[in-house]
Amino acid sequence: MCGIIGYIGNRNAMPILIKGLNRLEYRGYDSSGIAVMNDSIQVHKTIGKIQDLESILPDQIDGTMGIAHTRWATHGGVTDNNAHPHLSMDKDIAIVHNGIIENSSAIRKILENKGIIFNSETDTEVIVHLISLARKEGLDPLDSVRSALQVLRGTWGLCVMFHDLNQIICARNGSPLVIGLGESEMFISSDPHPLGEHTQKVVYLEDGDIAVVSNDGLSTHRIEGSTDHKVVTIEEQWGESELGDYPHFMLKEIHEQPEAIRQCISGRTLLSEGTARLGGLNMSKRTMKAIPHVRLIGCGTALYAAQVGRLAIEHLARVPSFAHVASEFRQNDPVIDPKALHFAVSQSGETADTLAAVKYIQENDAKVRGVINVVGSSIARQCGHGVYIHSGPEQAVASTKAFTNMVAALNLFALQIGRSRNLPRAAGRSLVKAMRELPSQTESIINSSAPYMDAVQAIKDAKSVLFLGRGFSAPVAREGALKLMEIAYIPCLAYPAGEMKHGPIALLEEGSPVVVIAPDDIQRDKTISNIQECKARGAKIILIHTEGDNIAEHGDVCFTIPPTEESLSPMLSVIPLQLIAYYTALELDRNVDRPRNLAKSVTVE
Ligand code: G6P
Repeated sequence: MCGIIGYIGNRNAMPILIKGLNRLEYRGYDSSGIAVMNDSIQVHKTIGKIQDLESILPDQIDGTMGIAHTRWATHGGVTDNNAHPHLSMDKDIAIVHNGIIENSSAIRKILENKGIIFNSETDTEVIVHLISLARKEGLDPLDSVRSALQVLRGTWGLCVMFHDLNQIICARNGSPLVIGLGESEMFISSDPHPLGEHTQKVVYLEDGDIAVVSNDGLSTHRIEGSTDHKVVTIEEQWGESELGDYPHFMLKEIHEQPEAIRQCISGRTLLSEGTARLGGLNMSKRTMKAIPHVRLIGCGTALYAAQVGRLAIEHLARVPSFAHVASEFRQNDPVIDPKALHFAVSQSGETADTLAAVKYIQENDAKVRGVINVVGSSIARQCGHGVYIHSGPEQAVASTKAFTNMVAALNLFALQIGRSRNLPRAAGRSLVKAMRELPSQTESIINSSAPYMDAVQAIKDAKSVLFLGRGFSAPVAREGALKLMEIAYIPCLAYPAGEMKHGPIALLEEGSPVVVIAPDDIQRDKTISNIQECKARGAKIILIHTEGDNIAEHGDVCFTIPPTEESLSPMLSVIPLQLIAYYTALELDRNVDRPRNLAKSVTVE
């Protein structure tokens, strides 16, 4: 979703901004734009990709200060005019903005009555006109931004550039903004990712902050009053984020799973004790023993990982656990028990619904721990404590390696809390051993010559695809359906296998593809019955099963996974599903990494 990049220093701003935009591309966007300070503010913007923007840029724009943006449309269609930056009527002030201004229609009417002519349908444009009016009334730049923000309701991460000022003014409320401190140059970004190549020293703005950024430093202020800021050194070294030899980020990230799992579990398991240690949780054994229940909250893939996690916690630790859709959480008036443990599960750490749920829980006097990939992200900071899943940068919109690592991290937690309660040491040791096998097992699945093209042929022209699984495989079915639906645009339905006969069975006809996840666990025999029910109605079964299991005779196209512990099987069984989705999308000529209408980081509720 929308991204911001800003630069002020002694170098030419344009190439730095374009590179920054490329680094933000993974968030999802439909247009982009750039404003560079020359004699006047020069703005270039267009719908489409960053390459489309580059193709309309002059060879050179001299100017050492600029702001740029990738837009994911919310208010107003995907048009050149709606792309950011937006200018004041006299073109003396430019703005880029992430977030949503909820009272923009009312403000727009008032401004139109004052004679302001709008150039776009966006909510953002009201801000730049408000600032411009305030300046004309004699306020200085900082106070003109402050006075505009005081009338806004909603969320913002924004940068404002004035033609007569060698400073960029930024503000944050609900949409993240981070300032990178260089040598006589400063960078501004909506996430730390583009800053890594320039500096490790950053300042995270807090909600309600305004920052005045110049070449040699920054001062931070509040919408009301003033503040000091804290410089943080980013410890996380993001891995290689270029495509390398892969045709798509999704394929690259699927292949990175063995290494990502290694990163996630390394140093966190203790074989002799048969347990795990997650220091970032900041929880004593005593506290763990007293937890009455666990709630896990997330969206999309993170939600399905949370559903696996809740099963693992109940299975290994016998603590009641629940997984919740973040966007439904606070609206449903949940009972919050301050003694309960809450987890916010999120790859980006920026998902607005998840963040809102975190704040709601905290307002109700309970603590929330993060299960997060992006270090220093909004949710991670809001939670304060938690588990980083250490997947490295995930750029394809369809999440893959974050799912496996969320499941790994939640298994580590389930093991730790299980051992602090009644899980026997021997059971803990088996789980640790099984976990340590996962990197090589995932590698063997990825490198096997499985019949992907047969699965693609069975699926690609289907009216719909049904995904079935029981127990730990039910959330995997949902995740497999989500993957195929989001990148191949095929309607997919995921059901607990036993529930299939209460509805989806009506969809089945000759040749209907049904993907069944049936590892060798206690659910296996019942799942075989459901396979029979599907086959009796002409369905074609695409089966994921454990190596060597004679269940294979029930499948039309079969994929195998190595044997593992029940709670870990989702990390293996999901991989063929990721690859089936990938190859089907390729066959249908879809944009695998940037599927239509979707965003990587969804920062609106
Ligand atoms: C978007 C992405 C999904 C992701 C979900 C939650 O919908 O397209 O891939 O699973 O957001 O994102 P999070 O960053 O919170 O895990």
